[in-house]
Amino acid sequence: MVSVLLATFVSFSCVARTMGTRLFDRNLAYSSPFANAPHLSHDTRSLQARHVQFVKRQHQLDDTVSSNGFTDEHYPTFYGGDFSSSPWIYNGGVNFTHSESSHPVASGDPLQDSILLWTRAVPAGAPPDQSIPVCVTFKIFDNEGLSGRPLDAGDAFTTYDVDWTLKVEANNLQPDSHYWFQFSDCTDPDIVSPVGTTRTIASPDTPAEEVNGGKPLTLAVFSCSRYQDGWFNAYGVAAHNTSADFFVHLGDYIYESLGDGAPIGRAVAGKELATIADYRQRLNQYRTDPGLVYAHQKAPWITVWDDHEVADQAWKAGTADTNDTSVGCSFSPSGACFTDRKLAAVRAYHEWMPIRQVDPDDKLRIWRNFQIGKLLDLTMLDTRQYDRDITDLYYNTVIKSIADEMNRSLMGSEQEAWFYETLSNSKARGAVWRVVGQQIVFTMLNEDDGLDVDAWDGYRANRNRVLDHLYSNEISNTIILSGDSHANWVSDLAHPNQTVTYDPITGNGAIGVEFAGTAVSSTSTFGPGISPADANKLSARYVAANIDLQWSEGSYRGFFTLALDAHQANATYWAMRNVSTV
Ligand SMILES: *[C@@H]1O[C@H](CO)[C@@H](O)[C@H](O)[C@H]1NC(C)=O
Ligand SMILES: *[C@@H]1O[C@H](CO)[C@@H](O)[C@H](O)[C@H]1NC(C)=O
Ligand SMILES: *[C@@H]1O[C@H](CO)[C@@H](O)[C@H](O)[C@H]1NC(C)=O
Ligand SMILES: *[C@@H]1O[C@H](CO)[C@@H](O)[C@H](O)[C@H]1NC(C)=O
Ligand SMILES: *[C@@H]1O[C@H](CO)[C@@H](O)[C@H](O)[C@H]1NC(C)=O
Ligand SMILES: *[C@@H]1O[C@H](CO)[C@@H](O)[C@H](O)[C@H]1NC(C)=O
Ligand SMILES: *[C@@H]1O[C@H](CO)[C@@H](O)[C@H](O)[C@H]1NC(C)=O
Repeated sequence: MVSVLLATFVSFSCVARTMGTRLFDRNLAYSSPFANAPHLSHDTRSLQARHVQFVKRQHQLDDTVSSNGFTDEHYPTFYGGDFSSSPWIYNGGVNFTHSESSHPVASGDPLQDSILLWTRAVPAGAPPDQSIPVCVTFKIFDNEGLSGRPLDAGDAFTTYDVDWTLKVEANNLQPDSHYWFQFSDCTDPDIVSPVGTTRTIASPDTPAEEVNGGKPLTLAVFSCSRYQDGWFNAYGVAAHNTSADFFVHLGDYIYESLGDGAPIGRAVAGKELATIADYRQRLNQYRTDPGLVYAHQKAPWITVWDDHEVADQAWKAGTADTNDTSVGCSFSPSGACFTDRKLAAVRAYHEWMPIRQVDPDDKLRIWRNFQIGKLLDLTMLDTRQYDRDITDLYYNTVIKSIADEMNRSLMGSEQEAWFYETLSNSKARGAVWRVVGQQIVFTMLNEDDGLDVDAWDGYRANRNRVLDHLYSNEISNTIILSGDSHANWVSDLAHPNQTVTYDPITGNGAIGVEFAGTAVSSTSTFGPGISPADANKLSARYVAANIDLQWSEGSYRGFFTLALDAHQANATYWAMRNVSTV
């Protein structure tokens, strides 16, 4: 046994000398979300030092049998136990399956030659000393049988520090191609994860007609999945019953709130989310839903967050129930200050989601653009957490009266400038479509209870700036995707109430369209459990009252797909029959 351990040690010290922190660094979970802010990412040199220190201590104990003379420079474990029989790299087996029904592999943020692969590798049995990493191998192949040489492969560490998550970038891939990937335990290649399927995007210069081999490219678009409100059947149907190429999530992937879900057996564990442990636990629980698990395994995801990934009605400096003030953070029921809560949420999100860190120097930035051949630009915005001016927090009724102020922004000036430039670049490079994935409903919507000033209706000058940019630069074929509202809406993009150049009957004069989707499971804003017939009555009234609105539906939970080719874009709205049962 000792010789086995020493053999492992020898090979490890070789690793340590020649590669330094490489095996830690390869796992992007350590550097997310803020790679260049040492206090907000993990310093892999100190993790490496902790590991080496542990190994030295164990080595000395094994060599000398007694610990006399051993100087412990660094307390290696919060358990405080004697781990002298532990291996240097955990070799007690890895559990890639954290529940009977879950298959935790995922991929995301595809580029033309690379993609992020994600898994979670939990030590099987008793957890090891905190200093000991689990070592995971990844391999990506161009065939379902995983035969031949992988296009990319490598090892990376994960530890309790990042909740055993592992996020690696697979490189050397071809544009617009399909791939199969698998993880295994470095110390026992027979312990493998399920196989995930994924794909890259076309290179920017690919002619629109040739993207996806000439077949329409399909996005499946989701928002608002509240665990205790229903099963995530929408994800499962999209994965099993559509040929969607990419899964786009517009936010509210998790909810911070409680709710026992008793009628459907879907209680959430824990408390209202505030600490990093809370957010991790919630993400972990969500990832046991069979529809969600399969959807991550099946296709690459491109995600942005909305408010509930942090907390309800988030804006740049608070949420409905948390803010930092000069007198402290006593308003928060969780007791956590807003800033701490937001950082905890963001870090857990980056650990668990297959999302890239866009800019290591730009705190919080997830707004980013994907050039998918000359067919489309997929532009993902953050109207919520990045730099949003104050929103409706229920107690601050002033928002309705300031909604027209010129200086109110949903994105902040930096992101706004980038967004307009991205739209212009997309036209200039000859992309057929501009698809904008973002959180909240864009079109003016007068419902029975008035305007929702937490949506673009509360930031009307910002909306005008977007429309002005599109109109004055004659940027056509813009498709805005929206979530957040828990109902379906299809609208023309035109200045609100403007019927001089825009004709709501023919659509002439519109500069684009908005497809807003219902929730995966969160209850209808038309009324919880409202029947299709009753919802349709409301929809008819809203379509009549709102010039730009063309169609609405508010009873069903579900998602929509957007199929694009060089000539047409088709949105198909999918309604789940019942989310009370799987
Ligand atoms: C892996 O996790 C599952 C679910 O928690 C559990 O039933 C199983 O015993 C675990 N396997 C090992 C080897 O720990
Ligand atoms: C969807 O896919 C599942 C799993 O393959 C299958 O059982 C089901 O019949 C399909 N549903 C429809 C409506 O095609
Ligand atoms: C913080 O929240 C409290 C109530 O929850 C509110 O009275 C106060 O005005 C808020 N402060 C700021 C700066 O938003
Ligand atoms: C916007 O301008 C108004 C009026 O000048 C001012 O009261 C407000 O503080 C400004 N808001 C922001 C977000 O800068
Ligand atoms: C649009 O017209 C409606 C009905 O006349 C009015 O209530 C609303 O204030 C107008 N909105 C804007 C942005 O002009
Ligand atoms: C859109 O739907 C029409 C009518 O069903 C079909 O002819 C066309 O091929 C579809 N286009 C795309 C891009 O899906
Ligand atoms: C949904 O399924 C549950 C459980 O089978 C059932 O009790 C409920 O009536 C169904 N709801 C609808 C609207 O069909």
